[in-house]
Amino acid sequence: MLLESFEAAGFKDEIAAIGDPLFGGETSLYIEEIINKTSDHKIFAVFRGEKVAGFLILSAVLDEAEILEVAVSENLRRKGIASELMEEIFDWCGKNGIGRILLEVRESNFAAINCYERFGFVKDGFRKNYYRNPSEDAVLMSKKLFGAS
Ligand SMILES: CC(C)(COP(=O)(O)OP(=O)(O)OC[C@H]1O[C@@H](n2cnc3c(N)ncnc32)[C@H](O)[C@@H]1OP(=O)(O)O)[C@@H](O)C(=O)NCCC(=O)NCCS
Repeated sequence: MLLESFEAAGFKDEIAAIGDPLFGGETSLYIEEIINKTSDHKIFAVFRGEKVAGFLILSAVLDEAEILEVAVSENLRRKGIASELMEEIFDWCGKNGIGRILLEVRESNFAAINCYERFGFVKDGFRKNYYRNPSEDAVLMSKKLFGAS
């Protein structure tokens, strides 16, 4: 579900516990911006029981959106949670005039690249040494949404 900023505040610690170790603490910063309304980023979460199982942070500008982060709790992977998040953002993008979704991913992140390809993203670019710690190239991927020109 798309979290309102007050809901993001309520689940901040759970989401940060999943994302911060993976993204060097950036998840907390994104959530703070959403809570304080200093960014227009959207945060989607999938729950198992009462707890956040996975989340996705989306930046949408005009008719394009970018996936900034997506992560699933380690013990809940391979159970379709990222797939639920993908379906949710496709639905949201479709209703909000988004024609294309973009993302960057580490070249070695086989699980994520596989997941994106499964949902129709194609590799369309490359950024040399884009990532630090460890240094690695980025693969750029995008997906055109139905009806987009
Ligand atoms: C990438 C990630 C979000 C996938 O989440 P998930 O909930 O496990 O994914 P799903 O169960 O919905 O799987 C959807 C598809 O992704 C692919 N996939 C997911 N994990 C995979 C793995 N370990 N190896 C190969 N393919 C994988 C498969 O095609 C899978 O479909 P299938 O299970 O029917 O074969 C998860 O592995 C994760 O949180 N990784 C760490 C954070 C990260 O790397 N984020 C992306 C950075 S931009």
